[in-house]
Amino acid sequence: MLKGSKLFSAGMALALAGVLVAPVAFGAEEVSAPAAGATSKYTYTKDIAPLIAAKCGECHRPNGIAPFSMTDYRQTRGWGKMIKEVTGDGRMPPWHADPKIGHWSNDRSLTVDQKAMVAAWVDGGMPQGNPADLKTAEAANRSEWRIGTPDMIFDMPEGAAVNPTGVVPYKYFETKTNFKEDVWVSAMECLPGNPKVVHHIIMFVSDPKKPMNFRSEEVGEDDEGGFLDAFAPGGIPQILPAGQARKIPAGSSLIWQVHYTPTGKLENDRSRFGIKFAKGPITNQMMTGNCINHDFEIPANAENHKVEAYLPFKTGVTIMSLSPHAHYRGKSFDYFMVYPDGREEQIISVPKYDFNWQTTYNFEKPLEVPAGAKMHVVAHFDNSSKNPYNPDPEKAVHWGDQTWEEMMIGFFHYSRPVNVQVSDSGIQIQKGETSGD
Ligand code: HEC
Repeated sequence: MLKGSKLFSAGMALALAGVLVAPVAFGAEEVSAPAAGATSKYTYTKDIAPLIAAKCGECHRPNGIAPFSMTDYRQTRGWGKMIKEVTGDGRMPPWHADPKIGHWSNDRSLTVDQKAMVAAWVDGGMPQGNPADLKTAEAANRSEWRIGTPDMIFDMPEGAAVNPTGVVPYKYFETKTNFKEDVWVSAMECLPGNPKVVHHIIMFVSDPKKPMNFRSEEVGEDDEGGFLDAFAPGGIPQILPAGQARKIPAGSSLIWQVHYTPTGKLENDRSRFGIKFAKGPITNQMMTGNCINHDFEIPANAENHKVEAYLPFKTGVTIMSLSPHAHYRGKSFDYFMVYPDGREEQIISVPKYDFNWQTTYNFEKPLEVPAGAKMHVVAHFDNSSKNPYNPDPEKAVHWGDQTWEEMMIGFFHYSRPVNVQVSDSGIQIQKGETSGD
């Protein structure tokens, strides 16, 4: 059985972005002067630029995953009608968590008032406003690094050529850090060199005391499998709160797992990874765990197949964020926490899971999980012809790396005080369950 690495293989928004939007982007060049007699009370400089910087700029920036930038008035105006349409119908910004469950510090969705403001600005002739009103809103999104200028940048050790067609197995690269002592990092970002072909990047740390067999199919099975950072469409770079950091032990290597998707042309990529060093005292170490089930079969034509996983916590942890992961047939994701007293609380609901957007949901208030609690993750899969992304409804589907195979992973990112010494991460993998429709 192809178990594959217990890791993620991400969406295809990149490929889509390149193909779909190029002809439309042309329209953005043809900007005319602001409409005479603009009537909106809202202006670009005062109202729209800050909103775009906060809610759109993480993707609509140079070298971002969106096919065009919105970092000045001209560009934004050129897309005005379309901006009104896609914000009005909720297509943009992409955000899939049910607002009734949980509060998220990176919630990108627009409020009713913000949508109305955008519509009124577009309908009212898109006035530019007073340039003096434009504070730093635009500048923040001109840099290609969303974490700001990194303290250190690693290039992939060599370029990768990606053939025009065919299946590309995950590629692995190793970069020696030559760090003489343990290094704590507070911000990390993977930057694809050629966004058209980079489907996802995962960075791992291979500690010389416990070297990682990174070409093994079992990479990441260990709950402290050295996960450091990931890039996937819709994902966010890690900028950790003060006092929290991830550790790169002295002498470690960085291991790159890169998933490329062919574009029909020979492509080349050399991606980069940027880090910022933690400043000030570190109280908590950040780590990533997963509540996973890889022993499932989704029958052919099943419309709503349920797969579950459980994960008990032996020690208390603080969960900072959640990243549900499945492939084309993923339909919905729900995470629950079962407390030692038996109380079960739903912590997130993603009713329409969309494989094109690999979103990490950051808790507004981190979730304190006591020892003895258990995470319970439930995913549903649509393997029927009603699922427009389904490559083949007539096939039963199992776990696998490639997107036409499936995954069921409830990733979570958690922190633990650095002064707590435990022999392991306090997390025990328990086999999940799978059940029929
Ligand atoms: C998480 C990344 C992300 C964010 C945030 C985001 N976009 Fe997009 N946007 C994309 C991508 C990628 C595309 C390309 C089409 C696609 O894949 O859906 C796109 C396409 C568009 C389009 C072209 C229409 C289309 O359907 O192709 C418009 C207009 C747009 N975005 C406006 C916005 C606005 C306005 C915001 C903020 C209020 C925003 N976007 C936030 C990633 C993003």
